[in-house]
Amino acid sequence: MEVIRQHTLFDFHGVSMSQCFTNNWDEIQNFKARPDDILIATYPKAGTTWVCYILDLLYFGQTSPERQASIPIDQRVPCLEINKPSLPTGKDLADQLPTTPRLIKTHLPFQFVPKSFWEQNVRIVNVFRNAKDNAVSYYNFCRMNSSMPEPGDWSTFLQNFMEGKVVYGSWHDHVNGWWEKKQTYPKIHHMFYEDLIQDTGREIDRLCSFLGLSPSAEEKERVTSEVQFDNMKQNKMVNYSTSQSMNHKVSPFMRKGKVGDWKNHFTVAQDEKFDEDYKQKMKTSTLQFRSEV
Ligand code: A3P
Repeated sequence: MEVIRQHTLFDFHGVSMSQCFTNNWDEIQNFKARPDDILIATYPKAGTTWVCYILDLLYFGQTSPERQASIPIDQRVPCLEINKPSLPTGKDLADQLPTTPRLIKTHLPFQFVPKSFWEQNVRIVNVFRNAKDNAVSYYNFCRMNSSMPEPGDWSTFLQNFMEGKVVYGSWHDHVNGWWEKKQTYPKIHHMFYEDLIQDTGREIDRLCSFLGLSPSAEEKERVTSEVQFDNMKQNKMVNYSTSQSMNHKVSPFMRKGKVGDWKNHFTVAQDEKFDEDYKQKMKTSTLQFRSEV
């Protein structure tokens, strides 16, 4: 089945974006954050859904089990900037969240985040993922999601990814921007996809200590188990099987969930070129990634 694409890339204040995420820009910029909101901020495909689900279970897993059973994760934790035809905007969904705290996600680079988040001193959770796996995951996501611009073939996409010509722009600028933001805005917790894979329980402990949560050992065990890849893949409320724009036959949203899958996609020549480009773009960065665990 051919996927009909309505969205193209354009330059938006120096970052490649598409209309789906910029349509109601003034409304987004005027969003009124509250001091107890929690913002999950990531480059797309870094493990956002994983961390959103962990947070949702930590806060509401015990008090509202019906929420887990009946409300898809993208409504429990709306994407602030999303604006797709005939669907409620992410901004409206976030405004209407009945919970405290409100869990809100964004893929915006830090400079596009509405100012009230900073003014209200909102807690922010960043999730980072190594560039190569992030690129592979993003490519497959663009293939299966008709809301994203046409990705072309893998080598075309990889070149565009290196040049920042994908939605939300340059991976390098995005991750470096958020990484450095913590120096001036300490209420940020940094998480890495690779660490979550290596030891989910430890990463949940660290997240809880950032948030001031102290779940019982039993509760923590339950959360850790529910967020394992195979469980999330089977869970219709978190695997995006309810999404209209995604075709899971092309590539499932819960695709591989591995560190190092990039090795199955990069040719030797692509890998060398990517490393060379990466060295240049990350040469002043203190951000370190693992592309295998
Ligand atoms: P892959 O495409 O490499 O499988 P996001 O939520 O930011 O869009 O990220 C999606 C990526 O995170 C996908 O990566 C998905 O499989 C992976 N993911 C989601 N939940 C996961 C889990 N519980 N364990 C491991 N990976 C997970």
